[in-house]
Amino acid sequence: MNTAQFIPKILLEKIEKASFTWQTPSNIALVKYWGKSNPQIPKNASISFTLKNCHTITTIDFSKKETTETAVFELFFEGKEKEEFKPKIAAFFKRVQEYCPYILEYKMSINSENSFPHSSGIASSASGLSAIAMCLMSLEQKLNPNLTQEFIHKKASFLARLGSGSASRSIEGPLVVWGAHPEIAGSSDIFGVQFPYKVHSVFENYQDAILLVDKGEKQVSSTVGHNLMHAHPFAENRFKQANENLSKMSKILQEGDCKAFINLVESEALTLHAMMLTSNPYFILMKPNTLEIIHKIWEFRATQNSNICFTLDAGANVHVLYPQSEQDTVNPFIENVLADYCQKKQYIYDSVGLGAKKL
Ligand code: PMV
Repeated sequence: MNTAQFIPKILLEKIEKASFTWQTPSNIALVKYWGKSNPQIPKNASISFTLKNCHTITTIDFSKKETTETAVFELFFEGKEKEEFKPKIAAFFKRVQEYCPYILEYKMSINSENSFPHSSGIASSASGLSAIAMCLMSLEQKLNPNLTQEFIHKKASFLARLGSGSASRSIEGPLVVWGAHPEIAGSSDIFGVQFPYKVHSVFENYQDAILLVDKGEKQVSSTVGHNLMHAHPFAENRFKQANENLSKMSKILQEGDCKAFINLVESEALTLHAMMLTSNPYFILMKPNTLEIIHKIWEFRATQNSNICFTLDAGANVHVLYPQSEQDTVNPFIENVLADYCQKKQYIYDSVGLGAKKL
């Protein structure tokens, strides 16, 4: 694993003050990452759709100061100072300071907001950390104007991964693979790469309606969940299965096989939750309405000859995936039937997006 490539050798420019704003998306895994070793190395490769509408916008103002041993920053979320978010970001800066030593020379003022409601149960760590990573890379590019776009994306993904594994998949789009896999050219355990093969047109602009089933704080964090995979009786088989599923998914995406896509995506979602059910201590993140929605989706698919399917992340919300061509039938089904199972009837229409945007 060549991490030395991410340690800057020379910084050519002297910059006193700089400010950068990035919009970076959330993502939804089709083949899931669950289980890791240090430092944030995935036990299996995963692939996700990058989202378009669910994103974080972050501005970092950098102003030069005396060099200190740890990063100095203030943090505002939706305009208010957020002390409770600071330890996670401080830990992130500590992890990346070897690769971004210049952050110790600046005072950073971070201002962040999400496009989705706070505590909607939509994980904000992927979009949040990828946005900070892009701001750091904008500063690095100013200090060293010779960096290529390719390197900037690669290193931003590498940095984001050190904050939250799935954040490594939130720099580019529409499909990103993270984790070394023999059939995915260029794939790596230390950064995400764009899916390198031509994808069938049926998956272009694929829709993802996120049904907000439970907006409460998760009872078990994903950090705890990943750790429980260490002593999990099914762990080795699961990691092997996920890598095999990524081979299958690669073929499905290229060939446009919707039926095989549905089968694999739903199986991955249920397997992720099966790992939680069979951990020790065991836990359940699905809610009764998660299951109600799944059954309604199956019924709709059978009776309407639809290609609708669901996936789940580490929570109770349901991501409803469907081709753009089915919007006219699926959207009314979401509004008239599935919305009843959501908290305050809330859902978010999203679709596949292209990754980080500089504002
Ligand atoms: O990035 P983390 O540590 O929050 O883990 C996320 C894991 C899942 O969302 C459940 C699956 C995935 O691959 O995104």
